[in-house]
Amino acid sequence: ALERTLSIIKPDAVAKNLIGAIYTRFESAGLRIVASKMMHLSKEQAEGFYAEHSERPFFGALVEFMTSGPIVVQVLEGEEAILKNREIMGATNPADALAGTLRADYAETIDENAVHGSDAPETAAREIAYFFSDEEICPRTR
Ligand code: CMP
Repeated sequence: ALERTLSIIKPDAVAKNLIGAIYTRFESAGLRIVASKMMHLSKEQAEGFYAEHSERPFFGALVEFMTSGPIVVQVLEGEEAILKNREIMGATNPADALAGTLRADYAETIDENAVHGSDAPETAAREIAYFFSDEEICPRTR
């Protein structure tokens, strides 16, 4: 099915100057970037985005990291976009990520793992709406 998913290039990958390399991975896989912006999240924005993890022991470190520098947030569109993006990213823990995935190539630790991607249709809808209004999503016309 044609899907949309929310993707984040996290502060570690932005700091390593990897925005273009990561966008090339998405585009080479046939995913279309239909919305995109750079942001520096506030503590409140990061806590709200990751609210489902608020009781986890890593929550404080996650919010600290996600507010440590600018991020790039995008909506990716394509056939099976949610799963396709998760395949491109690789496992959450870079130590478990398959060779050739973004996390295997560009991340060292589970805490600073280069990218985020929605894990299911319901979370994708919520996460896209968290960062983008309808007018900010620009599907292709040609
Ligand atoms: P992400 O997909 O952005 O969602 C939550 C993030 O928490 C996750 O990527 C990891 O970077 C981070 N994290 C740190 N420790 C863990 C853990 N034990 N399990 C899952 N996520 C973790």
